[in-house]
Amino acid sequence: MSIFITGGAGYIGSHTCVELLEAGYDIVVADNYVNSCPEALERVKKITGRDFKYYECDIRDRSALDKIFKENSIEAVIHFAGLKAVGESCQKPLEYYDNNIGGTLVLLDVMRSNGCKKIVFSSSATVYGSENKVPFVETMKTGTTTNPYGTTKLYIEGILKDMYLADNEWSVVLLRYFNPVGAHKSGLIGENPNGIPNNLMPYITQVSVGKREKLYINGNDYPTKDGTCIRDYIHVVDLAIGHIKAVEHIMKKTGVDIYNLGTGIGYSVLDVVETFKRANNIDIPYEIVGRRAGDIAECYANADKALKELGWKAEKNLEDMCRDAMNWQSKNPNGYGN
Ligand code: NAD
Ligand code: UD1
Repeated sequence: MSIFITGGAGYIGSHTCVELLEAGYDIVVADNYVNSCPEALERVKKITGRDFKYYECDIRDRSALDKIFKENSIEAVIHFAGLKAVGESCQKPLEYYDNNIGGTLVLLDVMRSNGCKKIVFSSSATVYGSENKVPFVETMKTGTTTNPYGTTKLYIEGILKDMYLADNEWSVVLLRYFNPVGAHKSGLIGENPNGIPNNLMPYITQVSVGKREKLYINGNDYPTKDGTCIRDYIHVVDLAIGHIKAVEHIMKKTGVDIYNLGTGIGYSVLDVVETFKRANNIDIPYEIVGRRAGDIAECYANADKALKELGWKAEKNLEDMCRDAMNWQSKNPNGYGN
């Protein structure tokens, strides 16, 4: 029996493949490489010394997906495949709804027709919106997302809840990720953004290797300790291990369970810059510029539920994240392209 991983060549997917293989699971991967490349999966094989099947497949392609289910014995799915750029989603809402929601609908239909009703879904802290108070708890009201990307996560959460209401044989875990950063300690896999990074850590690592001149910090006039935004950065390997716990959970029970995957600790942008400098003994020049539209001042998790019910807790600290992110970037200055 295998775990089917959609979007497994991506940043979080590739790290999760490593942890699953190392925990002894068999896996099958599908990815259309819209934001990744097969080399990431080859490196997963190299790290783990294990072989597995992967398919170039768009999850909206019903017959291709069905063929994968027929060719393999799939027990459960971890569903990472999706588009994730907030700014782009505002320019291309239809593409985001089509890919993320349309893709999920096809996947769920193919799962159902093949008798597979266990799924772990990559949701996001973005569903907490801007009206809740930190730390965010799973029971808080959602529904105030401010961009199509975030709204796709919210709708997919709703679709999965409805699937269970209609058929209580489904077993669903919704994982709300906070800010995944860092890389596998080997430096063989990591985050590989296209073009200018939108997110903080990949921007810092590109400054650190001289690909960008300096970091632009988006605002220092927020109501926080140093005026810069607070986020809950979580090492991608800790996050990946959270998925193993979620898979164990869906094997045991039906229902819909929601878990925050964060450390529960908030760090400011300046905290990240200072820790990165210290961990890597390198300077990161920066300039303070205006606020970025849509940013909230503070976002961090209450991570108690995942500890209590899944026995999962993030183990790595911000220094580990900064060191491992730098290790990946310096060994692969051009991502998987070198
Ligand atoms: P990623 O872009 O690196 O990985 C997503 C993968 O899905 C890519 O390999 C891409 O090629 C693939 N994909 C996209 N559409 C597809 C389709 N229609 N068919 C097949 N494959 C498709 O992103 P990531 O950072 O690894 O994120 C994984 C998941 O976690 C996404 O759903 C994302 O929205 C969610 N998430 C990410 C973050 C984050 O900060 N990275 C935070 C919260 C939630
Ligand atoms: C991003 C996503 C969000 C997603 C979250 C978790 C955007 C707009 N939002 O938000 O949907 O749920 O990741 O992965 O992409 N910063 C700078 N300079 C930079 C880059 C970032 O100062 O060059 C600041 C940002 O303004 C923010 C902080 O760093 O205050 C973190 O930014 P980022 O890494 O983009 O994460 P989120 O804002 O949490």
